[in-house]
Amino acid sequence: MTICRVDSLSKHYTMGETVKPLDNVSFSLEAGDFVAIEGPSGIGKSTLLYTIAGLLEPSEGRIYLFEKDTARLSEKEKTRMRAEKIGFVFQEAILFQALTVKENLFFPQKFNKKKDPAQIAYLLDKFGLTDRINFLPYQLSVGQRRRLVIARALLNEPMLLLADEPTNDLNEAWIEIIMESLADVSKKGGAVIMVTHNAQLAMQAGKRYYLQEGKLAAIN
Ligand SMILES: Nc1ncnc2c1ncn2[C@@H]1O[C@H](COP(=O)(O)OP(=O)(O)OP(=O)(O)O)[C@@H](O)[C@H]1O
Ligand SMILES: [Mg+2]
Repeated sequence: MTICRVDSLSKHYTMGETVKPLDNVSFSLEAGDFVAIEGPSGIGKSTLLYTIAGLLEPSEGRIYLFEKDTARLSEKEKTRMRAEKIGFVFQEAILFQALTVKENLFFPQKFNKKKDPAQIAYLLDKFGLTDRINFLPYQLSVGQRRRLVIARALLNEPMLLLADEPTNDLNEAWIEIIMESLADVSKKGGAVIMVTHNAQLAMQAGKRYYLQEGKLAAIN
């Protein structure tokens, strides 16, 4: 199954001058794919992930998720698809500051009936947060916050994981665990897009792309 197909996607921002981070980009991900996207800072990598997730509208082109044209889905259908099938790791580890670790982890579950205590316990343990469940984000280390947003993105067992620099702020031992967790999503028949500045990590993905001047080029 084609999990994500980006067809002739362009995205422009107009803030006085027009910035065109994505210019006629096409690529697709099949079940089992693990893709890495590299590229200079400020080039449009986060923009690409946001647009795929439906958090930004394309300026031109189409995005198909799970073989559905997202332009034909209502906001409600898109929200539901995100909650049930997509995991998003924001580059800036966005958390609700007034909610505890546990509440932050559960937050997306508000939109999803599925709640599996065994999966929750497994993720808390795997990401070293079991003894921090009642802490607020400001009481966590930067790396713990990063691990929490990754655990949250994995909680629903997403079919599509969009991870923006997921290994930031982490040491090697944790990076290995995160990379394994990402690879697991693709091994179970999902697909993963990881944005990274780290070429060593990108090499662990099955396919590598480089984004520059609006164009996405495959790296062999
Ligand atoms: N909401 C916005 N309005 C106007 N311009 C924007 C907006 N968001 C991003 N941009 C511009 O689009 C370009 C791409 O930004 P983006 O965040 O996608 O880059 P990036 O490749 O993820 O960079 P980094 O590696 O630093 O995270 C930047 O030049 C940025 O200024
Ligand atoms: Mg970015």
